[in-house]
Amino acid sequence: MRKPLLAAGQEAAHYEIRGIVKKGFEIEASGKTVYWENIGDPVQKGLHVPDWIRDIVANEVLQSASYAYCDSKGVKSTREYLAAKSTARGGSKVTPDDITFFNGLGDAIARVYGVLNPAARVLMPSPAYPAHSGAEINRIGSKPVSYSLHPENDWLPDPEEVRAVAAANPDVCALLIVNPDNPTGKVYPKHILESLVEVAGEFDLFIICDEIYENLVYRGRMTRLCEVIGDVPAIVMKGISKEIPWPGSRCGWLEYLNRDKDASFEAFCARIDHGKMTEVCSTTLPQRVIPSIMEHPGYTRWHESLNAGLAEKMNNVQKRFNNIPGFECCGGGGAFYSTVHASKEAMNSPVPFHNLSDDQLNLIRSWMKPGLNPDYKLVYYLLAVYGICVVPLSSFGTDYYGFRFTLLEQNNTRFNTFLDTLQEGLQMWTKSEKHPDLIVA
Ligand SMILES: Cc1ncc(COP(=O)(O)O)c(C=O)c1O
Repeated sequence: MRKPLLAAGQEAAHYEIRGIVKKGFEIEASGKTVYWENIGDPVQKGLHVPDWIRDIVANEVLQSASYAYCDSKGVKSTREYLAAKSTARGGSKVTPDDITFFNGLGDAIARVYGVLNPAARVLMPSPAYPAHSGAEINRIGSKPVSYSLHPENDWLPDPEEVRAVAAANPDVCALLIVNPDNPTGKVYPKHILESLVEVAGEFDLFIICDEIYENLVYRGRMTRLCEVIGDVPAIVMKGISKEIPWPGSRCGWLEYLNRDKDASFEAFCARIDHGKMTEVCSTTLPQRVIPSIMEHPGYTRWHESLNAGLAEKMNNVQKRFNNIPGFECCGGGGAFYSTVHASKEAMNSPVPFHNLSDDQLNLIRSWMKPGLNPDYKLVYYLLAVYGICVVPLSSFGTDYYGFRFTLLEQNNTRFNTFLDTLQEGLQMWTKSEKHPDLIVA
């Protein structure tokens, strides 16, 4: 090439939720069963999307309009439906023009960060779902400005800390909230959201609130940002990948709140929409079925049954993993992940000898890179020895260690075998003799 195609120092943010898959395949090729607990796709994990949803989609496939482009911002009648739904929750009036569809929320996230002024910073949670932190890293070329979610406080943020970070970083122009959270599963109480909105108002920030798990709440009550936003500008992010679930539809949308309250925010939203126009539109068919699916009497019942299953699984998980020294499993209440937090002491430990064949030892050695965070070593050990494929917590842009796994396995016997195996792996990690070769630096 006549010129380097990438800017100097431009490194892609790593996405370990997918990155670990290659290693999992290596283990599978060696003949071992792999428990794939790395990615949040309920359908891949055997969840049967109800027949009445399939019928609605099948019927729509027969309509010619499903094969056509739709409006750049998305199917008008669906935007009208969703705008009325958000407005009915109270707090903020949303019009159909305040909604824009994308090819999955991941696409929308990339657009929002992509349009933002390179000099501006998004203040984000740590840990954070990597589509957000990765988009910010790719945009600014350095570690994001962050506020901590605190495991000792059930993974809640401290609004005073958010205030202090915003005060100390004048480049921060937006505050990211993920509610219910990925990876911690935490559902934010109303008073925390109110305090975060207050901080945003105080520093003239707009809020980005990812609510893709809004209907997957199995403990407590979900407060949506639109209920507490007041006059603060915000972009709420939603989608159908998780709640129908239909991740293959690639269908998500943005709701702009209070865009009339700030000229700069209004121009920012218009620029995001302009990008969509140059690309024509997003997938038509899934947008067309959203109102029929969401208005169906079975939809609430469907979520009740999904949430009851998640509650049962999470109770079981928390009982098991809060009794192993050095590990704790707090958070939860929404989404479908469980995060096991590991103490620094439990992680700054060599890899155990137990059950480790020479081949496995060599495999772990080949995966280890200098400077790797200690929780990657635990994750590699669990994969190489037990076939358990989970995601290191530190890959969510945090200094905390541990790992995240999903609560999605539909076969209860298999889920319990997975938990038994994981429990054994963690017990061996803490108890058994260590391998001198694999001492964590
Ligand atoms: C918090 C969060 N936001 C956004 C997404 C992306 O969803 P989509 O499938 O619509 O791209 C995910 C997917 O896991 C997620 O967990």
